[in-house]
Amino acid sequence: MVKVFRLIQISDLHFSKRETQLDDEGKFLDRFKEPASINILRKARFRIRPVLSKYPTNMLIFQGDVEEKGYKPGMRKGCDYLANLWNYLGLNIDDIIVNIGNHDVCRFENQKFDYIKECWKSLGYNLFLDGLKMKKFEINSMVLFSLNSCHGCGEVKNYSKEIRELFDEKITDYKNEDIKIPPNLEDPIFNFLDIPIIDTKEIDELQNQSERFDLLLVQAHHNILPQIEPRTFGPEIVTGGYFRRCLLGLNRPVIYLHGHIHNFLSEILIDPENPDGILIIIGTPDFPRGFNLIEIYFTEDEKPIACKIRNFTLNEGYFDYKETQSYSLCLIPHAKRRKLINKIGRKIIDYFLNSESYLRFKKIIDGCGLSDCEISKIVEEINKLDLLEFIEILNKEEQYDSWIIKWREQYD
Ligand SMILES: [Fe+2]
Repeated sequence: MVKVFRLIQISDLHFSKRETQLDDEGKFLDRFKEPASINILRKARFRIRPVLSKYPTNMLIFQGDVEEKGYKPGMRKGCDYLANLWNYLGLNIDDIIVNIGNHDVCRFENQKFDYIKECWKSLGYNLFLDGLKMKKFEINSMVLFSLNSCHGCGEVKNYSKEIRELFDEKITDYKNEDIKIPPNLEDPIFNFLDIPIIDTKEIDELQNQSERFDLLLVQAHHNILPQIEPRTFGPEIVTGGYFRRCLLGLNRPVIYLHGHIHNFLSEILIDPENPDGILIIIGTPDFPRGFNLIEIYFTEDEKPIACKIRNFTLNEGYFDYKETQSYSLCLIPHAKRRKLINKIGRKIIDYFLNSESYLRFKKIIDGCGLSDCEISKIVEEINKLDLLEFIEILNKEEQYDSWIIKWREQYD
């Protein structure tokens, strides 16, 4: 049996940017008081539920940036909104992992992440701000490592005297208890507060702990390749190549999940010096605009063989989430894929090599002499051949007996 593990990847709520009206407890105000145009968040919860009914999930990861501007009321309400949403969706608190983003810094009160930590804690979620966090699963071959990529965010003390003075000047009015005028966040000085940094000790620990796992999920708020539009500062460790090199050096499949860029973007890195490795880097849009559902497929003996990324986008009328794209990526190097195929699979491959490039399910059964085999075993093996990219089932959503199956050219 091929096993499947599903996770939902959500990030970047940027609460106060959403203009949605919530009351002090984070609950929505009477719907009749709200214009439809500012109702996106409330609708999102109803739109996401059918997706979860169709694809029961094992885990949800929220990758940070609850708030837009580091204001305490927005942080509190944003956390309440998310916790209510997950509760509404029937997710178990133990299956939810929450991370922090650069916008979760309490920017003007020199508390860094204290307040967001407090908000999450009051709702039963623990933030890990220092040290690597590891989560194991029923599937023993996989592990999840969570890192804090925001060690550099909000660290004014790291900057030159001139920048510190300039920063102090910009927030003078906010620091004044009597006036409390929020600073203009469009001012480029605030970009200085957003530098992503991962503690190299956490990276070392990740490298040491990963040895006995076949598949690593790694998650942090920031992207690890340079952004299309560069920021003011060049972040060194996170997007400068160091971390990427460490993950590729593990010589095994790694799925790295991040938020921050507000976009669906999957990047695949292969390193010829580490032929058993593949690094799949997956970004997700700002919620509720979209999210990812990621499926990971394992063989019966828990060998990870493929992952499938499904991009969901809230359509313009906010009527529902549409699966706008989905694609599957094999986690096994070409040279080792044949070892995972059984006798049935080998017969099917031989038959393809000696007949046509497109075959119907029934023709495969007859042509390969499989009529004595259990149908479920044949379906299973065809599915595996599809995940290993030997073949492609062109109409997978249909019943197996109407499948049209295509041989994939690269195996000729
Ligand atoms: Fe961010």
